[in-house]
Amino acid sequence: MRAKKRPENLRSQRWFAPDTMRGFSHRSRMKQIGYSREDFLGKPVIALVNTWSEINPCHIHLRERAEAVKRGVWMAGGFPVEVPAFSITETYIKPSPMLYRNLLAMDTEEALWSLPIDGAVLIGGCDKTTPGLLMGAISANLPAIYMPAGPMLRGNWNGQPLGSGTDIWKYWTERCADALSEEDWNAIESGIARSPGFCMTMGTASTMTALAEALGMTLPGASSIPAADSGHVRMAVETGRQIVEMVWQDLKPSEILTRAAFENAVTVDMAIGGSTNAIIHLVALARRRGLDLPLSVFDEIARRVPVLANIRPSGEFLMEDFFYAGGLRSLMAEITDLLHLQCITANGRTLGENLQGARVIKNDVIRPRERPLAPTGGTAILYGNLAPDGAVIKISAASERLLQHTGPAVVFENYQDLESRINRQDLNVTEDSVRFCATRGRSVVPACPSGACCRFPRNFCTEACAIW
Ligand code: FES
Repeated sequence: MRAKKRPENLRSQRWFAPDTMRGFSHRSRMKQIGYSREDFLGKPVIALVNTWSEINPCHIHLRERAEAVKRGVWMAGGFPVEVPAFSITETYIKPSPMLYRNLLAMDTEEALWSLPIDGAVLIGGCDKTTPGLLMGAISANLPAIYMPAGPMLRGNWNGQPLGSGTDIWKYWTERCADALSEEDWNAIESGIARSPGFCMTMGTASTMTALAEALGMTLPGASSIPAADSGHVRMAVETGRQIVEMVWQDLKPSEILTRAAFENAVTVDMAIGGSTNAIIHLVALARRRGLDLPLSVFDEIARRVPVLANIRPSGEFLMEDFFYAGGLRSLMAEITDLLHLQCITANGRTLGENLQGARVIKNDVIRPRERPLAPTGGTAILYGNLAPDGAVIKISAASERLLQHTGPAVVFENYQDLESRINRQDLNVTEDSVRFCATRGRSVVPACPSGACCRFPRNFCTEACAIW
């Protein structure tokens, strides 16, 4: 049992407790907001780092959810303050949301460090938000817990489940082929994202929130709860309660995020058939923590971990089904022999303790070990003349016939060229053709037309260009 921190040793007391002119000023300004000394003196001050924004559909419920977190903080004897953070909405941000992950990390770190904060609840979920918030919290190294925004409910059209970020490709192709009426196209547009929450396929958002849980930075089971489920509100309240305890126990990210915890995250990434982007983010998170996580670790772990989550794009189902099947705890319970169960997590218990009693409820969604979706990991590391430093492929989402492929490249000058010619009847293609955008190649970056439409230097990575 670790010694509990004494109230006078709280970091926030450096601002509020001294009987000095500065101390007076800090206390009087809290009174200006409407609080009394009893509200904040000697109590853990908890920052709710909230990435809510009215133009971020994945986080649209987070203003309201923050109130539930505050309820938990108050009940546990803490003092909650909501601190808005930059909201990275994958859908709208140009030139690329990836450019803003580190801005959010800086925003988070500076907010936590510069203010009288004792602990933090990190609130978000859309793709780059999870790594951004966690990176900032790692650098600040104050007690912190992640509250995932939760996936959307499944999409629905004509009784068919729709997956955000995946079905759009299919139906756009049908639309281009004139195989979809205007009415159907509109109905799909209305049904593909029908609740708050992040994309409900196993894209970057679902992957990174699952990995936040595998790392030990959330309450057990938190990442799988759909945003619209009342359980999500209860989880928010519990998260608020728990951060107060974490402050008293002085449980910091540096203690939770060990090398073993990162290996657990890589293992879970493989078992869920996670997004290839997860590798970029996990490497960045590990480096923030001062740990090296080379691609060889992903390669080595991928070779021994089966894909068990039958979730699109690798599989058949969606995150709502994953929740009903038992969620991430159940999946992890299937692979306990591959995990470091001694890792400490945000609730103060070990991962092994958190997995006790978890079981799979629907084994068509979370496959048993003897009937995996794929016998080895969802992601493979490749090396070759196109990627001498390594590249990543999500094998579990690729058709078998495409794993080895030879075909002529159809070269487009840039994205605008691609858009204007891709559907032309006279385009010289066969079913073996490979699409290639010249401006994506490093050697032709200076020719990137992004200088016309974005404020980044013309030789900035073309992945970042607004026209992509
Ligand atoms: Fe936010 Fe997909 S757009 S997770």
